[in-house]
Amino acid sequence: MMDARKAREKAFHEQHYAEDVRWKAVDKYYSIIEGRARYWEDFLRARCAGKRVLEYGCGEGNYTPRLAEFGGAVTGIDLSETAMQHAQAAARAAGLQVEFRAMDAEALEFPDQTFDVICGNAILHHLDLDQSFAEVARTLKPDGVAIFMEPLGHNPLINLRRRMTPQLRTPDEHPLKMSDFTLARRYFDSVEIRAFHLLSLTAVPFRRSAGFPRLVAILDRIDATLFRRLPFTMRYAWYAVAVMSGPRPAAATAPAKSGVGD
Ligand SMILES: C[S@@+](CC[C@H](N)C(=O)[O-])C[C@H]1O[C@@H](n2cnc3c(N)ncnc32)[C@H](O)[C@@H]1O
Repeated sequence: MMDARKAREKAFHEQHYAEDVRWKAVDKYYSIIEGRARYWEDFLRARCAGKRVLEYGCGEGNYTPRLAEFGGAVTGIDLSETAMQHAQAAARAAGLQVEFRAMDAEALEFPDQTFDVICGNAILHHLDLDQSFAEVARTLKPDGVAIFMEPLGHNPLINLRRRMTPQLRTPDEHPLKMSDFTLARRYFDSVEIRAFHLLSLTAVPFRRSAGFPRLVAILDRIDATLFRRLPFTMRYAWYAVAVMSGPRPAAATAPAKSGVGD
């Protein structure tokens, strides 16, 4: 039987996918994500051709068909059956071969070492991290790579806005802390973090002006320099992209301690 946390996650997302209300409400912040999206897309374009690829927690599969266009043999999974139906219908209509399956990301129904590439956007922070890191490590091939884009939970102003918009979020979601990447290092030999969107958030009010793309590009470059010169500032960014490789066999991963969070 599904536990209460997963049942709440499923109910929230089933409703939002059925009503299609959520993304429009948060759109204005998504006006600045170009640089991060390009980084993610370049990474995957270089790695998908001829490979088994999993999009982990893919929602309605807005991105999944791109992975097939890059030449991957692609599967998308998500807890929401509604999302999987929408995604499968859209892929069929586009004539793309992508398999979508309703599945719990914390208990994947795939054999060990199935995938060359596992990717996910805004999914880990909806999950139990020990269980999901263990499942990603188990189903990734030894020379495979995983990439995740996740919101970070250290910036007080961003957290204030989250508290002011509870209708956009599930009660159990938990934007990631730097300590969560320390946890990931129990499951992967290498976990590399890149932060995105700190000063660039100040461009959002100017999103309708002609110079907006240039302004965001300049602020992205300033952010990148800031994160490189003063790495502690990365934690205050809106998003992180984590690249994980060298999955460790289950026996090698120490059981998680409680109180890892900071
Ligand atoms: C913020 S949405 C992101 C969806 C998609 N990755 C995207 O970028 O549009 C979070 C997704 O996590 C899914 N989810 C939550 N808990 C899950 C679980 N235990 N297993 C699989 N998917 C889950 C929800 O159904 C939802 O589609």
